[in-house]
Amino acid sequence: MQTVEQFHTMINEAYNYIIDQIDFKPEVGIILGTGLGSLVDGIEMINTVDYSTIPHFPTSTVESHAGRLLFGNLRGKRVVCMQGRFHYYEGYSFKQIVFPVQVMKKLGIHSLIASNAAGGMNPNFKPGDIMMIKDHINFFPGNPLIGPNDDNWGNRFPDMYELYNREYQQIAKDVATEMKIRMQEGVYIGLTGPCLETAAEYRMLRILGGDAVGMSTVPEVIAAHHQGNKILAFSIITDMGLPDNMHPCSLEDVIGYASKAEPMLRELIAGCVEKM
Ligand code: HPA
Repeated sequence: MQTVEQFHTMINEAYNYIIDQIDFKPEVGIILGTGLGSLVDGIEMINTVDYSTIPHFPTSTVESHAGRLLFGNLRGKRVVCMQGRFHYYEGYSFKQIVFPVQVMKKLGIHSLIASNAAGGMNPNFKPGDIMMIKDHINFFPGNPLIGPNDDNWGNRFPDMYELYNREYQQIAKDVATEMKIRMQEGVYIGLTGPCLETAAEYRMLRILGGDAVGMSTVPEVIAAHHQGNKILAFSIITDMGLPDNMHPCSLEDVIGYASKAEPMLRELIAGCVEKM
């Protein structure tokens, strides 16, 4: 187990490397999920830094995820985007998964926007829908905050009272209304993957209160909340997990629906960033 001091050394080395490449203090961090990489198109890009060059950064193994930090301006706000994120199913530890989020905090962010692809379990949803995450259930076999806690960073026992920021949720609803798009809302259940769920598992997860299920976001959001970031998160529903109406689901389907919803999510996120 790393000590707090070792951990700070790693964060500082990553931070120092990045600010040597780019003198820029981002306000908002954005994690781009599966197939959503081109969300960056609306960003006035200033610089990029490959994960592979940053000390202690994990490198992405999933083909659909490029691995770099993008720095730029979006609707008048300074943003840093993670193009490529790390999943537990790839074999990373929770500490590795959240390391980039903690580095973004050190760089200066006060807010985090996360996006992901997820299976819909609420029968009112359909593939291609965007769901704003109102709450989550951590079904991962662990938590990134396990281990020594630095009280300067956050509480030992962070409360989950307002994990997903209410003001930001209202902003997202207002932007969706202005855009005249249907935005679903619901509870995201995060679990390991890489298998999708069996019919029996979808049934169980729905009974337990989930509207959507996916393999990411929960660890990063927990770490970001611990450090006092305000959080806004969205799922793109890429397939339906309805236990009485199961269909085969391929990675192509997931990426296809993610790409289809992407222009809408891009506008939604840009509209939110502008009002943050
Ligand atoms: N289950 C879990 N993760 C997912 C799914 C799903 O159905 N779709 C996209 N990511």
